Amino acid sequence: MKPRPFHIPVSRRRFFKSMAAASAGFTLPGYLAEVLTTSPIVTQGPYYPLADDIPLDKDNDLVQLGDNLNIATGVVSYITGRVLDASGNPVKNALVECWHADHEGDYLYSTGTGRNPACDANFAGFGQFLTGSSGYFRFRTIKAGLYTGRTRHYHWGVTLPGRSTRSCTQTGWNEVAYSNTGAQWATQNSNDNVFASLTAAQKAAILLDFLPVEGTTTGEVYTQWDFVSGYTPVEPTYPAPGGFLASGELVAGPGSSPRYKLTFRAYPNYCYEVYSNPTLADLEWAALPFSLTRTGAIDRHKHVATAEGPLTIYVEAPAIKGFYKVSFRVPGANTGTP
Ligand SMILES: [Fe+2]
Repeated sequence: MKPRPFHIPVSRRRFFKSMAAASAGFTLPGYLAEVLTTSPIVTQGPYYPLADDIPLDKDNDLVQLGDNLNIATGVVSYITGRVLDASGNPVKNALVECWHADHEGDYLYSTGTGRNPACDANFAGFGQFLTGSSGYFRFRTIKAGLYTGRTRHYHWGVTLPGRSTRSCTQTGWNEVAYSNTGAQWATQNSNDNVFASLTAAQKAAILLDFLPVEGTTTGEVYTQWDFVSGYTPVEPTYPAPGGFLASGELVAGPGSSPRYKLTFRAYPNYCYEVYSNPTLADLEWAALPFSLTRTGAIDRHKHVATAEGPLTIYVEAPAIKGFYKVSFRVPGANTGTP
């Protein structure tokens, strides 16, 4: 059975836009020349969200989910920093992902359908940021909650442009961990099984001091942290996530049904989708199914390119408005629906 058009709701499209705005870049003063410690690569852990755990809102604000009036419970925390390569150069187009437990220590990850119902319904639990030319990233989230067996920590995944592997690390708090009821937590930085494997220099680089945000009365805190990659980004850097418009060329399909041929330049490990036929009634765009061959089965909604060069796809649905929109995701980005 061939896939039907898959409709993308408004909030998903807003995510694409917010990624573009987020990568516009900003500056922070105060960094001093220092010896760089390569960020330790530690376990991704079991709670990197699955496609159906992740909220449609995947931006860099984990505190407010979509247009919710209520925000997540917890100490609002800002993390700003840069992605640097092994030589200390800022890395443009690095995908930074952050995920962590809510105030009570529950992740949004769930092996069932949808997100973990125990997780704070107002907490996004996961966010992404694509760095601009200065390498900076910024997240607003809450102080991570504690769960049995670990001390307090954030999870980070950083994917450099041109690479298909997500480098995972974790940051902690340079403090004694207390539970929400004020009891000293059994697992501290000194006996946490992830942090215990790090060298003193690595620990110093990832155990962070959070300071009060001046001028606020709500207890907000901030910190600065650079992710220093052991890799040097592949040059040239490839496009940021986005899309382009394309017209389809009418060609003979199988039997009597015509198809529309789209050819464009693709990059390895980028995920491509094709959209068309927005309807005014509900402002929905349809992700159209397609085939990689002129007469083969219409059998997919997305395609991950394996090499750089021309990619041709064949769509059966005509572009009622006269154009298709080809949308693409960078390597390492979540490639959930459609
Ligand atoms: Fe964790």
